[in-house]
Amino acid sequence: MVYAALYVSRAVRPMTEADLADILFTARRQNAERGITGRLVYAARGREPGTFAQWIEGDDWRVRELLYGGILRDGRHALVGLPFEGPTTRRVFPSWTMGFEQLPHPEAVSEEIERLLALAHGIRPVRKGRSGSPRVRIDAR
Ligand SMILES: Cc1cc2nc3c(=O)[nH]c(=O)nc-3n(C[C@H](O)[C@H](O)[C@H](O)COP(=O)(O)O)c2cc1C
Repeated sequence: MVYAALYVSRAVRPMTEADLADILFTARRQNAERGITGRLVYAARGREPGTFAQWIEGDDWRVRELLYGGILRDGRHALVGLPFEGPTTRRVFPSWTMGFEQLPHPEAVSEEIERLLALAHGIRPVRKGRSGSPRVRIDAR
């Protein structure tokens, strides 16, 4: 089972090309070692600090460790929201240790979030049973 998370954050200051390159260099190196894939987007209007959205996917504990133990503790940005976190049936970006795109304006980040969220809901594992947990089959003897 794949585990994925999608968060939105606000940069603490405008990100330069060098700032973004630094984030991506570390992200890609570490993600390759940890089997994590995903996509990061960033957009800023004028001299505003800008908004990030990132989709990360991989093994359950590795994704959570990276998200809560690393990315969300990073002082370069602050969490705005976590619209999706949970198991999925497959990876969305299997060949990207971290895809990146600088989008033209913050509204494009909102569109990206909508798109990823729709994808995420499409690849959630189907849960059976009223409790929401997978049904356990008990064989009659
Ligand atoms: C927007 C943003 C996205 C990031 N994405 C990743 C990522 O996908 N993988 C990763 O290992 N680090 C990522 N980082 C960097 C981590 O927050 C952290 O700096 C890195 O894991 C190194 O942590 P360490 O020095 O404690 O080992 C990201 C940082 C920012 C600001």
